[in-house]
Amino acid sequence: MLVEGYVSTDGPYTGLTKDQLLECAYCPLWVRVRCLLLVAYWTSWLVMLAGAITLVVVTPKCLTPEPLQWWQLSPAYQVYPLSYQDGSHPPDGFGDILGIESRLDYIKDLGVGAIWLSPIYKSPMKDFGYDIQDFRDIAPVFGTMDDFHSLSRAMKERGIKLVLDFVPNHSSNLHEWFQKSVKREAPYTDYYVWTDAKGFEPEGTPIPPNNWRSVFGGSAWEWNQERHQFYLHQFLKEQPDLNYRNPWVLQEMKNVLQFWLDQGVDGFRMDAVAHLLEDEELRDEPVKDEDSIDEYSQLDHKYTFNLPKVLDILREFRILLDKNSENGTKIMITEVYMPVEKLMAYYGNKSHPIAHFPFNFELISVSQENISAQSIYSTIMTWMDNLPKGAWPNWVSGNHDNSRMATRFGNELVDAINMIMLLLPGTPVTYNGEEMGMEDTDVSWEQTKDTVGINAGPMKYKLFSRDPERTPMQWNAGMNAGFSTANQTWLPVNPNYKTLNVQSQLNAKWSHIKVYKLLAKARKTEAIMNGELAIRVLEDCVLVYTRVKKGFPGYMVVVNFAVDTVIVDLTKLDHVPNESFIYVFSTTYAHSFTAKKRISNSEVMMPGQGGMVLTFVPEFPEETIPL
Ligand code: GLC
Repeated sequence: MLVEGYVSTDGPYTGLTKDQLLECAYCPLWVRVRCLLLVAYWTSWLVMLAGAITLVVVTPKCLTPEPLQWWQLSPAYQVYPLSYQDGSHPPDGFGDILGIESRLDYIKDLGVGAIWLSPIYKSPMKDFGYDIQDFRDIAPVFGTMDDFHSLSRAMKERGIKLVLDFVPNHSSNLHEWFQKSVKREAPYTDYYVWTDAKGFEPEGTPIPPNNWRSVFGGSAWEWNQERHQFYLHQFLKEQPDLNYRNPWVLQEMKNVLQFWLDQGVDGFRMDAVAHLLEDEELRDEPVKDEDSIDEYSQLDHKYTFNLPKVLDILREFRILLDKNSENGTKIMITEVYMPVEKLMAYYGNKSHPIAHFPFNFELISVSQENISAQSIYSTIMTWMDNLPKGAWPNWVSGNHDNSRMATRFGNELVDAINMIMLLLPGTPVTYNGEEMGMEDTDVSWEQTKDTVGINAGPMKYKLFSRDPERTPMQWNAGMNAGFSTANQTWLPVNPNYKTLNVQSQLNAKWSHIKVYKLLAKARKTEAIMNGELAIRVLEDCVLVYTRVKKGFPGYMVVVNFAVDTVIVDLTKLDHVPNESFIYVFSTTYAHSFTAKKRISNSEVMMPGQGGMVLTFVPEFPEETIPL
């Protein structure tokens, strides 16, 4: 076949010969064309590459948040060992380590990631374990070191971390160090804060060196006849203060920390740390308020509380923990009751961190009289506004030293407070029993004394027992609420256990525990872990906050503190669309609410004294890309 326009004289066209091709290839015109094409090809590649690199460099980056650590991911749960579960054979009416182990599945199921265990060390129990006779041993009432290891193993198997109480300020007067210090035996002579009497009364009574008071009432000084000196005790007289001006004491206590780290614990809650140091000159503290309710709060504790060097001691503890943190953070939580602005110093700073977080007791300081949307709003904002950059918040709703949440705020608000606490940025810390709304029990100081069989309890509590929030955990409606089968329990079980107990709440269609579990689950979402917080008070009585992270479902907590129903417009908050879905609601709302129901955000009916959590697709204003 002939190609049109191509004339062949010798038959059909067969293409160019090799020689003809080579001749054309070296023709200067074609060489230039080829070169040009090659240059154009590579130039466009280079331009595209440069463009891509410029885009990557110039485009604003999505900051990937640092991965959160175990102590940030889930709520922590305080277990008060004397009251959690009696696991001894035969039962003795006191909670113990094996008892706690037997309840780990329940704890895991709650969605809790760590247990803080109140003291389990060898102790004469004058202050229920906060008076330690041997920092490296377990009190027989709680079990043995083997029991401890068994608990620790069982927790590891379930992925629950273990945080121990560490009581650095004082020991028991029965501690070997104190016994030897009384006898001025080296090196223990100055392990405690000893001083001579200021003088003697005519009849020979020694006069204390100054006006310092014990937190539990009375003088902070106790005369020791054998050593013929006073020793300091900022708590009970059976809890002499250790002397941190002696470097050996600091070393001893660091050794104690190391001992427990070597047993595999994951961190410490450090007790009463603001009391670690006192004025060297032992100056009198100024009287600030003669009319104060107790003598301790009459004084301005400028010479016994929160002395600047306390932070240096804590920093030493933190360095030790960090050295032991190669396989995961060893956490340090400090216990100090103090105004938030000052408390923030306990976080330390980026180059010199101290506590991973100092306990935030602001929610505890709110009482039934002053609880309102506004007071909770201020409580949250005070913490958030004062928080140092990059520091991690925390929220504590109750503990063994304070009245229970249901008693402080009323049973109706239990879920609402848990909602607020569990979905805020930071780690929530729940005291055992608060997940089901346990209430204070009517216990007198005499009752504690009689059941424990010792002259227990601080003086001040002879009038007001400090145990109402420490009564046994209410597991079921059986004997002693399932806590123990002994004839008597160390503190009486609250008579409400027949209806208020774990089992009935797990069996019920809707209950405080069920709400708690759903909240713990929601915490794991991106918006709660890494999202922004925006918070407002609507209609004077409704507290609302949103947790939003672009690209993820948002969460909104809405709580009505008033008794009456109120209608709120939630679209007033940024990123909130017209509709959302109910995720979880208070038990008080159970009769009229349904989970997953779609609701209109512009007119939400909130019945009194309760709350709910909504999920929604956050809206963001259209972004304009600059040309
Ligand atoms: C802490 C404890 C408290 C104890 C005191 C003295 O405040 O929480 O229970 O009595 O320290 O150790």
